[in-house]
This record gives sequence, C-alpha cells and structure tokens, in this order.
Amino acid sequence: MQEQREAHEAILDRLNRRLRTLSQCTNTLLQAESEQELLQSVCEILVAGGEVQLAWIGYCEDDAERTVRPVAQAGSGLDYLERVQTSWGEMEPGQGPPGVAARTGKACWVDDIRTDPRFSRWRVAALARGYASCIAVPLIAHSKQWGAVNLRATLNLYSAERNAFDESAIQHYSGLATSVVHAVTALRGDLAENLAHGVTALRARAERRQAAEALHQAREELAHVTRVTTLGELAASIAHEINQPLAAIIADANACLHWLEADRPDLDSVREALAAVVKDGERAGEVITRIRALLSRSSVAHGPCDLAEVIRDVLLLVGPELERHRTVLQISLATDLPPVMGDRVQLQQVLLNLLLNAAEAVRNVPPERRRLLVRSAVEQRDDRAWAVVAVEDAGVGFREEQAARLFEAFYTTKPGGLGMGLSISRSIMDGHRGRLWATANPGHGATFHFALPGMR
Ligand SMILES: Nc1ncnc2c1ncn2[C@@H]1O[C@H](COP(=O)(O)OP(=O)(O)OP(=O)(O)O)[C@@H](O)[C@H]1O
Ligand SMILES: [Mg+2]
Repeated sequence: MQEQREAHEAILDRLNRRLRTLSQCTNTLLQAESEQELLQSVCEILVAGGEVQLAWIGYCEDDAERTVRPVAQAGSGLDYLERVQTSWGEMEPGQGPPGVAARTGKACWVDDIRTDPRFSRWRVAALARGYASCIAVPLIAHSKQWGAVNLRATLNLYSAERNAFDESAIQHYSGLATSVVHAVTALRGDLAENLAHGVTALRARAERRQAAEALHQAREELAHVTRVTTLGELAASIAHEINQPLAAIIADANACLHWLEADRPDLDSVREALAAVVKDGERAGEVITRIRALLSRSSVAHGPCDLAEVIRDVLLLVGPELERHRTVLQISLATDLPPVMGDRVQLQQVLLNLLLNAAEAVRNVPPERRRLLVRSAVEQRDDRAWAVVAVEDAGVGFREEQAARLFEAFYTTKPGGLGMGLSISRSIMDGHRGRLWATANPGHGATFHFALPGMR
C-alpha cells in the first residue's frame, strides 16, 4: 500500500511539474518577440522543471555535413554541445536521436546511454556529464504555400535517470514541440507579413516618386516648349529690339570712321559715339542673354532671386510688343521687396504669361483702355514678409463663372490659344510655395497676382 501510494505521488508530482512547465512554456510562446528568445526560454523552463539535465534546440543546416547547429541551450554540461558533432545526414553522425528525429519527423529516444549501440559515438561525453537517457523531438514546419520545409529542428533533452522518457513523457514533449513550431511559424509569419507590407509600402513610395518625377519632367518640358512658343510669338518684336541697337551701332561706327578720316579728327565726338556703341551693344547683348535664358531647356536650381530684376528682364522682352500695339505700360515697384527663393527663369515665365495675357486682353478694347500696370508690394502674412506682384489691365476681363476655370489646363477663349499659360504658371508657383490668383477689377479688366514668401 505504502509503496503504491508513493508511486502514485511520484506520478502526480511529475504530472504537476509538467503542467507547470507547460503553462510556463505557453506563456513564453505567446509573449516571445523573437525566435531566439522563444527557443532559449523553452530550454530554460524545461531544465528548471527538474526533469532534464540538459535541453537544447538544434537547427538542421543544409551544409555538406548536414550539421544540427545548437541555437538555444540550458542546463548542466553545456560544453557537451561543443564537444560532440551532431548531424541529420544518413552517415554515422546522423544516427543519434537528433539526426533520426530530424530525418524521420518522429521522436527518437535512448533509454540507456550506457548500452544503446546507436549512442556509442557520444557515450563517453554524455556519461561524463551525468546523462543517462535522452530524447529528441522534431520541430518541423512546412510552408503553407509551397509545402516546402521551412523549419527543421529538434528539441533535445537529457535526463540523469535511465528510462526517463516513457510514453507519457514522449507525448508531453511532442505536444510541447508542436506548440513551439506554431509559435515560431507565427513569429516568422508576422515577420514575413511585416516585411511584405514594408516592401509593398516601399514599392508604392518608389512608384509614387517615379510618377512625381515623370510629372515634374513633363511639366518642365511643357514649360520649356511654351517658353519657346511664346518667344516665337515675340520674335518679331524682339528682332526689332535687337535690330534697333544694331542699326544705331552701325550708324555710330560709320560716323566714327568718317570723323577719323578728317585731318584733325573730332576726338570728342568719336569718344561719344564709341560710348554709344558700347551701350547699344550691351543692350542688344542683354536681350539676347534673356532670350537664351528663357530658351534654356533645364531650369536653374532654386536660389535667392531679386523680383525687381525678374520684372526688369521680362519688361525688356515684352516692352517692344506692347509698343507695337500701342499699349501703355505703367510700373509701380516697391523698393523694399524681400528677396525670394526661386528659379529665376521660371519666375520670368510666370510674369511673361501674365503680361502677354494682359496685353491680349486689351488688344481689342478702345485705345484709352489699352493700359497695363505692373505693381509690386510687400505684404505681411503668416508672420513673414511676402513679395506680391500684380499685373492689372483694363481689358475684356472675365465673368464670374469663368473665374474657376482660368487656371485649368487647356482652358482658353482665344482662337490660337493653347490654354496652358496660367496652368503652367500656377504649377510654377506651387513649386515655389507661392500663390497665384485672379481678381476682377471694379471697372474694367482683371488683375492677376502672385505672391512668394520672402527669405528670412
Ligand atoms: N488678363 C486677362 N483678362 C481676361 N481673361 C484672361 C486674362 N488672362 C487670362 N484670361 C483667360 O484665361 C484663359 C486662359 O489663359 P492661359 O494663359 O492659360 O491660356 P491662353 O492665354 O488662352 O493660351 P496660352 O496657352 O497661349 O497662354 C484665357 O484664354 C482667357 O480666357
Ligand atoms: Mg496665356
């Protein structure tokens, strides 16, 4: 009776420990954040449970030796793992419990290390560390999608008692192994999902950036083409603008030659004429420089810009065109305009578009209304100074229902119009963190304004 009770109590005690071990392992499986942490905790919990001396988990590698590489271990005699070589190949080092379990997918155990011939290779080292029996339980998972093995490992336990791994122990550890496999694949699945998600997000970002770059490129091309077209339209006026100083230069130069032929050349007049030649030459050169800048394909990088210069450059180009149509141009510039960050050529293009639109708006109105006013002013907004430039005309103006469409691409009311001028100008302003808008004048015509944040 007494013996029977003691045997029962021993079984109960063992079951209790296993239950405790199992619940601790389950907690770990649920909470572990990395595979390594999970495997290491399982080994430690199993050793702490008192049933085993050594617990280790080995991953099966696909190297030539088919090594079972320990990745987590706990217990006494850890140097055992450094001494012995374990394999899951068909050759002799693969005939021990870990090798068999990994190959067959079934638990493999040795009841008595002293006598089992399968363990002869590791016997001396194992006995020296007090191990009497051992078991290896497979940890194998197949990928859901491909059916390929994506986890092949073994959980290896060593006990100081012989016959420690009976039927119930095998069941217990096999059950635990299944949970470990689930936990590992869940962790990896999470990781894979995160990775996949991350990759998708990255790809989407890269694609967005490419699309944005392509759009940017297309805009630049378009802006360039419209600049070229605009200049083409201005060609006649510009040619005149250049021919005038050239004609003056020729006249002055001829006069000089004439004076120099005299016995006593009038050097003062020669000097004066040469100064005029230089001035006219510079004037023609300046126009050509502006045109070349506007014709340049690539825009310059953003840098500090003086809007007064931008206005002056553009007026130099449209001035002759306005004169040709007997349009009066008035200018009212603020002297304290803050410098802005921007691309000078693009800003010139915006102003050029606005001025040409204004010139076109006054083309067919009575002569007294053929006036344009270019204004610049400083405005205080959002805690900083903004440079505001406005082009005001007394032309045909726009109706309220038109107002919303003015900046749409291809919106035009002109027979030969493309309807791109304002749309391009607005995207240029957007690229400068600026604004472009239109207001109807109280009397006649419209005013187009653009505002750029001043540099601090
Ligand atoms: N100053 C203005 N007064 C009245 N309407 C204007 C004025 N500026 C622009 N508009 C209207 O806005 C439309 C669009 O102007 P936008 O500059 O974008 O194109 P467009 O001048 O017609 O052609 P282009 O592409 O050759 O410039 C014009 O067709 C015109 O109806
Ligand atoms: Mg236009």
